[in-house]
Amino acid sequence: MIHCRIQQALQSAVAAELPDADLSRVLVRPCDPKFGDYQSNALMALAKQRKMNPRELAAAVERRLDVGEWCDSVEIAGAGFLNFSLRPAAVAAQLQAAARGEHLFFVPSSTPRTVVIDFSSPNVAKPMHVGHIRSTILGDALARVLRLLGHRVIADNHIGDWGTQFGMLLLGWKTQLDESALATHPIDEMERLYKAVNSDESLRDAARAELVKLQSGDEENRAIWQRMIELSQEQFDTIYNRLGVGFDYTLGESFYNDALVGVIAELEEKNIAEESEGALVVKFTDDPKLKKQPAIVRKSDGAANYTTTDLATLEYRQREWSPDEILYVTDGRQQLHFQQLFAIHKRWKPEVVANLVHVWFGSILSHDRTPYKTRSGEVVRLSALLNEAEERAFTVVTEKNADLDEAARREIARVIGIGALKYADLSNNRQSDYIFDWDKMLALQGNTAPYLQYAYTRVRSIFRKGDIENIDASAIILNELEELALAKHLLNFGQVLENVAAEYRPNYLCNYLYELAGHFAAFYEACPVLKAGDEKQSRLLLCDLTARVMRQGLAVLGIEVSEQM
Ligand code: ARG
Repeated sequence: MIHCRIQQALQSAVAAELPDADLSRVLVRPCDPKFGDYQSNALMALAKQRKMNPRELAAAVERRLDVGEWCDSVEIAGAGFLNFSLRPAAVAAQLQAAARGEHLFFVPSSTPRTVVIDFSSPNVAKPMHVGHIRSTILGDALARVLRLLGHRVIADNHIGDWGTQFGMLLLGWKTQLDESALATHPIDEMERLYKAVNSDESLRDAARAELVKLQSGDEENRAIWQRMIELSQEQFDTIYNRLGVGFDYTLGESFYNDALVGVIAELEEKNIAEESEGALVVKFTDDPKLKKQPAIVRKSDGAANYTTTDLATLEYRQREWSPDEILYVTDGRQQLHFQQLFAIHKRWKPEVVANLVHVWFGSILSHDRTPYKTRSGEVVRLSALLNEAEERAFTVVTEKNADLDEAARREIARVIGIGALKYADLSNNRQSDYIFDWDKMLALQGNTAPYLQYAYTRVRSIFRKGDIENIDASAIILNELEELALAKHLLNFGQVLENVAAEYRPNYLCNYLYELAGHFAAFYEACPVLKAGDEKQSRLLLCDLTARVMRQGLAVLGIEVSEQM
C-alpha cells in the first residue's frame, strides 16, 4: 500500500541521516487535507532528543527522501512536520490494482500473531442481559478484524458455569422445580429457583450442603448441574446465531476445577502467595497502584475463586496455544481484577511474554444516565432487545417499502435492526458510557448502521440501473476533486483496519465508513455516473470499489448489508 511505502521510504531516509534513530516511531499518518494527504511528525521528536533544529533535520531527511513515485510534493511545514501529497496517477494505480482483485486496500500482516480473545462469557442459569452485549459485539468485531488482517484468532467463551450460585439452584431444582415452565422457558425458571432460594434465609445451610455435594462429585447433583449448563448453552446459542457470532471454544470456569489446587500450591511454593487472616493472598508491595489491594487466591473457607480460575485459564491457554496476545473483553469494573491477574501471572511465569490486555468498556445507560433497565426496573434481556430492534426496524422498512412482501421486509428489518444495535455499540469509544437510544441508532441519517447500509444499497442500485457486467480496470480518471477525495479515502482502508487492531477500537472503522459514505455522497452529487461520457467506466469503478469497501468494512464489524432497503 502507498502509505506503507511512503513510511518505509521515510524510515530509510531517517536511518541514513541518523543511524541510531528508533525507526518504529517514524510513522506517517493520513492528515487533514489542508496540509496534504499524509503527514509525519517524527522528525520533531528525533530532533528534540538530539538537540537539533527540527526544520534543519527535516530538510536533511527530505533531501534523502525518495518518494517521487507516489508523491507530487513533500513539504516541510510548521515546526518540522513533513507533509506528503499523493500523485493522482499513483492513486489511480492503486485503484486499478484493487479493481483487478489484487487487494482491497489492505494487506495481510507480514508478522501474523496468535491472539486469544476471551469475550461474551455469560453466566449459566442466568439470562444474558444488555451488559453482555458490549462484550459479545466488541469481541466479535475484534476477532473479525484481526482475522482479516491475517492473524490467527482463537475465540474462547469463558462461561460462568461454576460457583456458589449452584448450591441454591440445586436446592431449588430439587424442591420446587416447575417442569412445564422449565420446558418452555428454562432460563426464567432457573432464575426463579435461584431467587426463591436466595431470598429465604432458612434455606442457606441446605443450599450450602447441595454445593458441597456438587463439589465432591455427587452423581445426582453433577447430572442436574450438567443439565443446567446444556439448557443455558441452548439459550446462548440462539442469541449467538441471531447475532452471527461464533466461538472456537467454550471452556467455562468449571473446565479448570482440577487445576486449581496445583495453581495454589505453586503460588505458595514460589512464595508469591501468603496466609492472611485465614485466606491465601498475593500482595503487591512494590506496585504503587496495587499496593493497597492484595488479591485473594484461596478464601478462608478453602475455596478457590475467580482469580484462581483465571490464573489456571491463563496457564492453560499459554500451554495449549502459545498465544502472542490474550484479550479479555469485559466491563471496566473488572479492571482491578485483571491488573492483579496480570501482575500475579508475571511473577508466577516470568518467562512467558504474551501481551495480556484488558479490553474494557463502559456501561450502557438510560436517558437519565442510570444503567439501562426496562420500564419496570428489570435488567433488559438480550433476546427482548434483539426482538425490539427487529420490530422497530420493520416499521421503518415498511414505511419506505410498503409494496415489498412481508417476508422480504422482515429479512431487511433483521439486517437493519441487528446492524443498528451493533453499530450503536461499536461506533462509541468503548471506554465511555453511552446512552441507549432506539431512535438515534435506527435513524437513516447520521453515523448509524442504517445510514451506511442505505449508502451501500444506493451504490449497488446504480449497477442495477445500467447493465454493467465488465468494468474496465484500466479506465481510472481522477479529474474532479470529489473523485480524487473519494479515491484517496479508499486508499486509507487498510491503515484504519490496522489502527483498530492495534488499539482494539472498532469505532475508528465506524468513523472511516461514515466518512466514506460522505465522500461518496459528495462525489455522486458532483459527478454523474451513468450519464457520464468518457468518465463513465472510471466512475463505475469508483462506485464498485466504494461498495466493496463498505461491505467489507461492515462485515468485519459483524454487520450485514442488504441489496435492497
Ligand atoms: N463471566 C464473567 C462475567 O459475567 C466474565 C468472564 C470474563 N473472562 C474472564 N476470563 N474472567 O462477569
